[in-house]
Amino acid sequence: MTDLNQLQAELTARAAAGGNLAELEALRLEALGKSGSISELLKSLGRMSPDERREQGPLINGLRDAVATAIAARKAELEAAELDARLAGEHVDLTLPPPPERRGHVHPTMQVLDEMIAIFAELGFALAEGPDIEDDFHNFTALNFPPKHPAREMHDTFWLPEDARGERKLLRTHTSPVQVRVMQRTNEALPSWVANGQAPPIRVIVPGRVYRSDSDATHTPMFHQMEGLVIDRAIHMGHLKWTLETFCRRFFETEAVVTRFRPHHFPFTEPSAEMDVQCDRSGGSIKIGEGSDWLEILGGGMVHPTVLRNCGLAPDEWQGFAFGLGIDRLGALKYGMPDLRDMFSGDVRWIDHYGFSAFAAPNPATGLS
Ligand code: PHE
Repeated sequence: MTDLNQLQAELTARAAAGGNLAELEALRLEALGKSGSISELLKSLGRMSPDERREQGPLINGLRDAVATAIAARKAELEAAELDARLAGEHVDLTLPPPPERRGHVHPTMQVLDEMIAIFAELGFALAEGPDIEDDFHNFTALNFPPKHPAREMHDTFWLPEDARGERKLLRTHTSPVQVRVMQRTNEALPSWVANGQAPPIRVIVPGRVYRSDSDATHTPMFHQMEGLVIDRAIHMGHLKWTLETFCRRFFETEAVVTRFRPHHFPFTEPSAEMDVQCDRSGGSIKIGEGSDWLEILGGGMVHPTVLRNCGLAPDEWQGFAFGLGIDRLGALKYGMPDLRDMFSGDVRWIDHYGFSAFAAPNPATGLS
């Protein structure tokens, strides 16, 4: 009995005095480990008579609990002290400036595209898209490029290798093949048009990537175009002119935009025109809405009857206009970017400088940020 009390006093005192976690663990093994002093006492219970065991059992178990509790209590103390010491060594200085924030930017082409889509959407145009890899039929033949005609070479086409059927696909040189796809598709969807003479009007814009083997300050091998196509019963050149002038005023955010149409040739439109905007080139930058110089910004015209026929529309019933403009080039003009090649070089310094914040205040002309 006295022995047990003494052992308990000694072991709990050593636990309370334990200087570190390793010392405590050694003490635990010494007392409570497999052949520790208390474990041996517990084993001795088996050798006792029932009376002895009834007496000694609770005492030895009480000893074990007291020592285990003392060790656990000291362990908690040591751990808390260790944490306190670590926290005392670390501190956060809330007066330091935060690290600089890295924010991505909206690429000017995407910004300009959003602005264009908003403007044309308000004029009643829907969006259409087509594939980047085209066939000769959609890119050239259906658009009235004569076979073997040098006009096919005019576009510096990237041709793909011959496929198993001996056909050579190409990277579309313009968005005009989507005109063909839209007219064919609409026609397929409503085969009763021609029969009942009821045609819903087509009014689409077609933004997308186009490819030409060409590279200098104003040409990149890949660039973005937007095609416009309107087909209805009584569409004429005046509608084309109004649409493009309205677009230019909204896009350049000034009523002072002056435009002119110059006769031109495209195989798929007749008559065809290029549209210029009046600008000022003095002082090294181009300003729209002032000056007396001209800058070509797009091509357009009335869809050629052959193209309509190639797409299954009767030209004496349906007419319309089409136009094509360079999205990147108009963006460079509006936001003053001198070299188009920089747009696609992937240099983050360029996008940091010319890119747009996704969180900017809305543009009053388009309602877009
Ligand atoms: N596809 C022509 C080009 O890339 C532009 C255009 C489109 C002209 C539609 C007339 C009508 O140059």
